Amino acid sequence: MMDRFPLEPIEKASLDELRALQLKRLRATLSHAYANSPAYRAKFDAAGVHPSDCRELSDLSRFPFTSKADLREGYPFGMFAVPREQCVRIHASSGTTGKPTVVGYTRGDIDIWSQVMARSIRASGAKPGDMVHVSYGYGLFTGGLGAHYGAEKLGLTVVPFGGGQTERQVQLITDFRPDIIMVTPSYMLAIADEFERQGLDPRESSLRLGIFGAEPWTNDMRAAIERRMGIDAVDIYGLSEVMGPGVANECVETKDGPTIWEDHFYPEIIDPETGRVLPDGELGELVFTSLTKEALPIVRYRTRDLTRLLPGTARTMRRMEKITGRSDDMMIVRGVNVFPTQIEELICKRVELAPHYLCILTREGPLDCLTVAVEARQGLSHESDEARGAAERLAHEIKTYIGTTARIDLRAANGIERSLGKAKRVLDQRGK
Ligand code: DLL
Repeated sequence: MMDRFPLEPIEKASLDELRALQLKRLRATLSHAYANSPAYRAKFDAAGVHPSDCRELSDLSRFPFTSKADLREGYPFGMFAVPREQCVRIHASSGTTGKPTVVGYTRGDIDIWSQVMARSIRASGAKPGDMVHVSYGYGLFTGGLGAHYGAEKLGLTVVPFGGGQTERQVQLITDFRPDIIMVTPSYMLAIADEFERQGLDPRESSLRLGIFGAEPWTNDMRAAIERRMGIDAVDIYGLSEVMGPGVANECVETKDGPTIWEDHFYPEIIDPETGRVLPDGELGELVFTSLTKEALPIVRYRTRDLTRLLPGTARTMRRMEKITGRSDDMMIVRGVNVFPTQIEELICKRVELAPHYLCILTREGPLDCLTVAVEARQGLSHESDEARGAAERLAHEIKTYIGTTARIDLRAANGIERSLGKAKRVLDQRGK
């Protein structure tokens, strides 16, 4: 048996080849959207652009953005560019309020999604013969089925567990001996806790590799998970509106931010205020245009994710810097912009604390107050001097490095509710 999977030719192509392919596919996508989706036709017409105006990749900046609101307006299937009967799958992302965002896939879309997921799992370090335990939720969420189809396409053995039933997750991991786990990083920590609760050392498990995403997580969290589980932890990125997981994935040999599978998803970074396209290397909002999607071509979708584009390393394709936050998650505390991931970095540096945390915003009179609820590590009393000292140092570091005052609400192990999927990091109790 081969000991490694070969790369696809496009992963080794020159930048010139890649750009030529992207331009060809971009023009086809714009034409398809304009011809077959009345919503896109109306948007393009209103902006005074026609697909034939796209002569080079940079012409994309003349086309209008698409936002979640556009998809909601057409709820459920209004933006689709093929008759609903040609869709073999529907997914939806829940959203916190109102109607979900609905996306559809043709047979061809599912094939390409499986291919980029297979590529992602391979880039993560999967080997022929591996077994994959999938703990992303199955259902309308794209995580479970996306991971599942990709792993199957690669020819691996898939255990479609889904989220929840943490005790049984540990039992099956122990009994089946999978090599790879695919799960949100926050739920990985909950599974690690459960290993310890059962008196098992998670480092002794069969797992060699974790493919983590669906929520922001820091390099410090990566180090914490790798140490605790004794595995390689790599980052997988994606969003339902663009496809699902597998839009970008880190290469295990570099672990330097997800490589964007640019032959299928064309990235831009824009200034979120003005919408102007920023050069590679600058921080801004990530925008994606699909290059091969049939059912729901997506043109300049504003992800609200903040990052920068970086040159390729392990592949020719560009990378994105590990996402530090979504504009939606940004807290403004007395005028200072704070992302939960900045707090996470500081928590991960304190061995007395566990990286289970929640940022709570309240209002006292006219002032915003930030409380960081965080747990003492397992086996250490949250009332011990050691834990209290760590909390004081955390408050001090938040003030020094982030510039905001935070109260620390130190809790006992398991004092913070565990998520079975995406962790909730901000609780805003300020009212309107
Ligand atoms: O979370 C798809 C996915 C499933 C990705 C499993 C990776 C693994 P949505 O529910 O539509 O889709 O949420 C997409 O989640 O815009 C980001 O804000 C966030 N996100 C996803 N992956 C990452 C990541 C899936 N690796 C939204 N790092 C995106 C940071 C991420 N944020």
